[in-house]
Amino acid sequence: MAKFIPEHIISEIQSSVDIVDVVSEVVILKKAGRNYFGLCPFHSDKDPSFSVSPEKRIFHCFGCGTGGDVFTFLMKLNGYSFPEAARILAARCGVRIPEQSLTPAQKRLIDEKTRLFKLNAMAADFFHHSLLNGVSGKNAMTYLNRRGFSEDIITRFKIGFAPEGWDNLLSFFYKKKAPLNYVEQAGLVVANKQGNGYYDRFRNRIMFPITNIAGSIIGFGGRVTDESLPKYLNTPETPVYNKSRSLYGIDAAKTKCRTNETVLIVEGYLDFLALYQAGSENTVATLGTALTNEHVRMLRGCIGANGKAILVYDSDLAGIKAAERSIAVFDRGHIDARILVLPAGHDPDSYIRKHGRDSFMRGADKAKNIIDFLTDMAVKKYGHSVEGKLRVLDAMIGPLSAIDDINKKSLYRKELAERLDIDESAILHKVRDRNGKKNDTRSWVSENGAMISASNGSGGYTDGETETAKAKFERRLIAMMLQFPAIIPEIENRRLPYFFENNLLKTLGNTILKYYADSEGHVAELLNGIQDERLRAMATSLAIDDRTWRYEDCLKLINQFESGIKYPEKNLSRKIKEAAAKGDDVKVIQLLAEKQKYVRNKAKKKCVRRR
Ligand code: CTP
Ligand code: MN
Repeated sequence: MAKFIPEHIISEIQSSVDIVDVVSEVVILKKAGRNYFGLCPFHSDKDPSFSVSPEKRIFHCFGCGTGGDVFTFLMKLNGYSFPEAARILAARCGVRIPEQSLTPAQKRLIDEKTRLFKLNAMAADFFHHSLLNGVSGKNAMTYLNRRGFSEDIITRFKIGFAPEGWDNLLSFFYKKKAPLNYVEQAGLVVANKQGNGYYDRFRNRIMFPITNIAGSIIGFGGRVTDESLPKYLNTPETPVYNKSRSLYGIDAAKTKCRTNETVLIVEGYLDFLALYQAGSENTVATLGTALTNEHVRMLRGCIGANGKAILVYDSDLAGIKAAERSIAVFDRGHIDARILVLPAGHDPDSYIRKHGRDSFMRGADKAKNIIDFLTDMAVKKYGHSVEGKLRVLDAMIGPLSAIDDINKKSLYRKELAERLDIDESAILHKVRDRNGKKNDTRSWVSENGAMISASNGSGGYTDGETETAKAKFERRLIAMMLQFPAIIPEIENRRLPYFFENNLLKTLGNTILKYYADSEGHVAELLNGIQDERLRAMATSLAIDDRTWRYEDCLKLINQFESGIKYPEKNLSRKIKEAAAKGDDVKVIQLLAEKQKYVRNKAKKKCVRRR
């Protein structure tokens, strides 16, 4: 694992670093007995299934099975290599890693990111200095002051100015003898067309350094001080900067997010700064992009399981768009998300300046959850007449279909039915209909609603082996998933592929679930994405069958399959005892996790059946 860092150094780091301390920076941990528990940062976790043992110096997630030591934790969390993780931890606890023990190639790899952080930090200093001391920075400073930003906030966030001209930063780096190809890699300078030189990317712009959660500068946003375009210019994608994974201010906000269990999400650098200056330190800003799964996962690590996210938008239209887009993202991340739309013409920055922070916060406290917000908007638009209600219902089908959590979905359905004073089953049918059509242009339900047959999916499956009855059943379920994607949420909820015996079909089942969890997509795209020839061939043959499915019959099939599952709990209990007797703690934890999964699935099924 670590040939180039001496074993004794690794053990020294291991024993000096407190794993609870390290994990606590991204996960809220609560002590229970000898271990700590929290929400897993590696999957969308609903109950705290992530545990850390300070004594054993390991972590393990009973939900997704990820586990290991403090090195593994950082590697998985941040995509670090082992030496990177080791270096960071070593620095943290004051252990010195002898430099000569790294080979040049390994050193280069580790150094790449560090180098980019360093260059960005140097550039940030240069820009900041130009704003505070440069002659050309005066205008920019006046601009910032006019917009109400104090010296304090400018210093705190190291806001800067990139002077007019093509080679200001370039000369600075040249003088510092920094290799310019690396400066280019950082996105700070651009190679000219002739290929014989570089020029400054950011010119005559106010510069906002963007940091990662640990506080290293990963990139910049640059705003013009007049009406010229583009208003903002941002660092392009680099080995350390990716806007889908970055949030402006996350480093400064994380502590307050944790204590308040709330995060405000705004759209602009200046909105962030205005809120922060006004004392709302639990704020982050997206960087000109819609909220992604990665953003949500990162925020969830900060606000915890019961945390809430308040999205702030400057118009009904922007709010509606963002709300519709982000329902699924928040649903997947199990975050309670709300929407606050400011009065026409205001963004957070202008609102606070006009009405003050208290007024803003009162609005934030009253922010509605996404579905309620969308319902309000639809009712406002279409009114309460019979015709209007039908339109509201139509408008709400899409948003409701985006929710995978069956309990939540049914709750919202009830609420909507009450609010519109209509029969809930009407909504139910519409949602199902929509789900059926979502992934395919063909309608999967025939005109009279009959299912032709779900009983013998030949599907062109030729494997040369005689199939067991169970495998046959599993193949039928896969065919159903491929041909009738509306059923996917149900399969997902009951984790059916987990119980498959046939490994190929199991893999295929999980692949399909994963695909639909990440995208709305189309079956063809799904098939294209399967790398394994054999698997793809099998999937294609099952998908191509043009059969008509009906939701109710699919459910029957699923129930039938489930009643055939035997739970090997007893077997597991025996194995746990054996491993415990041998003192094999890692094995015990693994087996316990497996058992817990079975038990949870069983409980889940019971409650599904009762409904
Ligand atoms: N943005 C961007 N590129 C642009 C325009 C906007 O990346 N060409 C991103 C920036 O992160 C910006 C955010 O979208 O902060 C919001 O844009 P906008 O509302 O236009 O600007 P404000 O941040 O409100 O800036 P100002 O108040 O100075 O107009
Ligand atoms: Mn603004």
